[in-house]
Amino acid sequence: MQQLILQAATVLAQAQRVVCLTGAGVSAESGVATFRDAQTGLWSHFDAQQLASQAGFAANPGLVWRWYMDRLHTVEQTKPNPGHWALAQLEQRVPVFTLVTQNVDNLHERAGSRSVLHIHGRITHMRCNRCGFAHPLEEAERKQPLPPLCWQCGGYIRPDVVWFGEALPGRITDLAWRAAERCDVMLVVGTSGVVYPVAQLPLLAQQRGAIIIDVNPDCTPISEIADLFLQGASGTILPQVVKAIETK
Ligand code: OAD
Repeated sequence: MQQLILQAATVLAQAQRVVCLTGAGVSAESGVATFRDAQTGLWSHFDAQQLASQAGFAANPGLVWRWYMDRLHTVEQTKPNPGHWALAQLEQRVPVFTLVTQNVDNLHERAGSRSVLHIHGRITHMRCNRCGFAHPLEEAERKQPLPPLCWQCGGYIRPDVVWFGEALPGRITDLAWRAAERCDVMLVVGTSGVVYPVAQLPLLAQQRGAIIIDVNPDCTPISEIADLFLQGASGTILPQVVKAIETK
């Protein structure tokens, strides 16, 4: 593994444009369950795909609201882990660095990352499900059995996250695709690489000549095509890569 870490550090140290694509795995060591095993404890008898959808929200807005308030509370109790901190340090060392995250938590920002594109939205932000009006969440609203109502149109308020079957945010998606098409290196961290269209970004970057580095304890469709596959936890591997860059 040490050899791979040195190779990744060499590639990243020479890169002018780097895109980092992260998934739930980068937050796993902060205690935020990865998406597919997020149904732990209280919510284990619900299907996330069912809750995170317009149909699920229409059928039971109170249940979906309480599920997200519970997840928001969990995110607020957690802290960035060494993997988040390492990516914020890496951003300082690369001329053009773009962080594209599928995660809805704010751990990258809390670790100091500045150019974060939340391609699946942010659980920390609320908007109207009908008119899209941004809604500042009041403390008391978190405990209400039903979602608050929009001040503009009276529609239900919901988290500003992408639900199953919904389109990705247009401007952010354009920025992410443009960065992927232009980068020299794409560093993929903690994603199963099975959810499209985001999962195609590494392929797109590779087709344009980028070097793909994948960091994951498990093998995934992305580790299969990666030029460098660093198998292990991001909280362990990323700090070693950044440290190796600093000795360059
Ligand atoms: P997944 O839960 O699908 O995959 C998490 C990945 O992180 C897996 O490949 C794990 O092996 C890996 N992993 C676990 N611990 C890790 C660690 N310590 N360091 C590095 N990797 C680790 O989560 P995502 O790939 O992010 O979409 O899921 C992508 C999308 O699927 C989510 O954004 C969500 C879901 O449907 C929406 O909500 C729209």
